[in-house]
Amino acid sequence: MLMKRITPNIVPKISKIVRHLQTVAQSKKVYTNVPANFVFSKGFHDPEQHENRESIVNSMLVHADFLTEVEENSIFGEIEPYLKRMRYEYDHWDNAIHGFRETERVNWNKENTCILDRVRNLAFPAGVNPLRFVHILDLDEKGYIKPHIDAIRFCGDTIAGLSLLTDSVMRLVHDKNKDLSVDILLKRRSLYIMKGTARFDYTHEILGNEHSKFNGETVLKTRRISVICRNEPDPENTKL
Ligand code: OGA
Ligand code: MN
Repeated sequence: MLMKRITPNIVPKISKIVRHLQTVAQSKKVYTNVPANFVFSKGFHDPEQHENRESIVNSMLVHADFLTEVEENSIFGEIEPYLKRMRYEYDHWDNAIHGFRETERVNWNKENTCILDRVRNLAFPAGVNPLRFVHILDLDEKGYIKPHIDAIRFCGDTIAGLSLLTDSVMRLVHDKNKDLSVDILLKRRSLYIMKGTARFDYTHEILGNEHSKFNGETVLKTRRISVICRNEPDPENTKL
């Protein structure tokens, strides 16, 4: 009698609980691979986006603490005398970057050459040709980088960037589906290696302080210097 009374109600409840547990288990499985410094937009929570999410995780690698404080100082010490002679640029409406100064450098002192060799060895497999010059981008505290994709005419499939002086948030947004975006916490002294789908199919940007949040927490970006190694463009893309 008791069973009769309970059964009709409890069966749907149990199956609801089971379905919930399955969903949790499934989402756990989906998330196992996601680094702690990535926050995916809601669009990515759709199980259909599983592959897109995997390919982002595999094509955007972040190495925390890639540089020691001594190494960060060493790079800063070599470039700061040049940077401080330049003015920050703000008002170019068509620029992808706001509040910046930049330069390129081919020759580095011995210690910094070692650091950059370490970056290139990690980022570029044998047979890939790194560009000789390293791009140095100095963003003022008020500076930010608007969403863009690096021109395929000027650089190849891999972009490796060291972040100096501050933490910041990089956002990747799928070029054809704006619901797919991921925020990445770039800690001071980290190295990111962006290649393949993250480099070609998603815009990247560095959030200005007005929007600089990670997982709901404000990430105050002060002056930021990035030191970026790229590889040669695919010759097919330089013909135009
Ligand atoms: C760029 C760029 C990212 C960074 O210069 O094209 O996207 O980490 N830089 O500074
Ligand atoms: Mn870029």
